[in-house]
Amino acid sequence: MISIIVATDDNLLIGKKDSANGMPWNVPEDSKHFKETTVGKTILMGLTTYQAIGRPLPNRKTIVVSFDKFEDERVEVRYDLKEVIQEYREKGEDLYISGGASIYQQSLPLVDQLLISRIPGTHTGETYFPDFSEYGFQLVEEKPFQTFTLQVYRKG
Ligand SMILES: NC(=O)c1ccc[n+]([C@@H]2O[C@H](COP(=O)([O-])OP(=O)(O)OC[C@H]3O[C@@H](n4cnc5c(N)ncnc54)[C@H](OP(=O)(O)O)[C@@H]3O)[C@@H](O)[C@H]2O)c1
Repeated sequence: MISIIVATDDNLLIGKKDSANGMPWNVPEDSKHFKETTVGKTILMGLTTYQAIGRPLPNRKTIVVSFDKFEDERVEVRYDLKEVIQEYREKGEDLYISGGASIYQQSLPLVDQLLISRIPGTHTGETYFPDFSEYGFQLVEEKPFQTFTLQVYRKG
């Protein structure tokens, strides 16, 4: 299954440039959820998100996409997002699209599932998750955690 995994606030904010890791908040329970969901699997992110995190996350395969030449032997560097998604679909392997905004925008028509951690309230930042109302996703599950609610959307 090809999934988008993201954390947003009430306004779909996802990113803040001048923060430690690019995120507008620090919600350890959501970091734990991200880890538990993706460990042992493959995550894919844009170069901006990878540089904001500053290192590959342990115990999972990381694919970083860039249009430019970019070398980092700790990750798999790819230049064509759609090609990677198609490849994982064909081999029937899980792929977790992990941002940021431009990667989410391009992936929305191509993924099966959205895993959205809804962090309550409004925060400061400048990067937003795209409006996904036009892509035929339906809310199939809501799972309350102590500090956020996980929403699962699937293509109807
Ligand atoms: N809240 C969350 O769950 C969450 C998750 C992830 C990220 N974020 C936040 O989102 C923000 C970053 O988002 P962003 O949109 O600015 O950047 P991004 O999507 O992380 O990365 C953009 C870069 O990815 C490469 N790229 C984009 N489309 C591509 C394609 N089709 N093929 C190959 N390479 C492609 C380009 O790299 P080159 O310029 O090198 O060509 C582009 O500059 C950060 O603040 C981050 O913290 C939040």
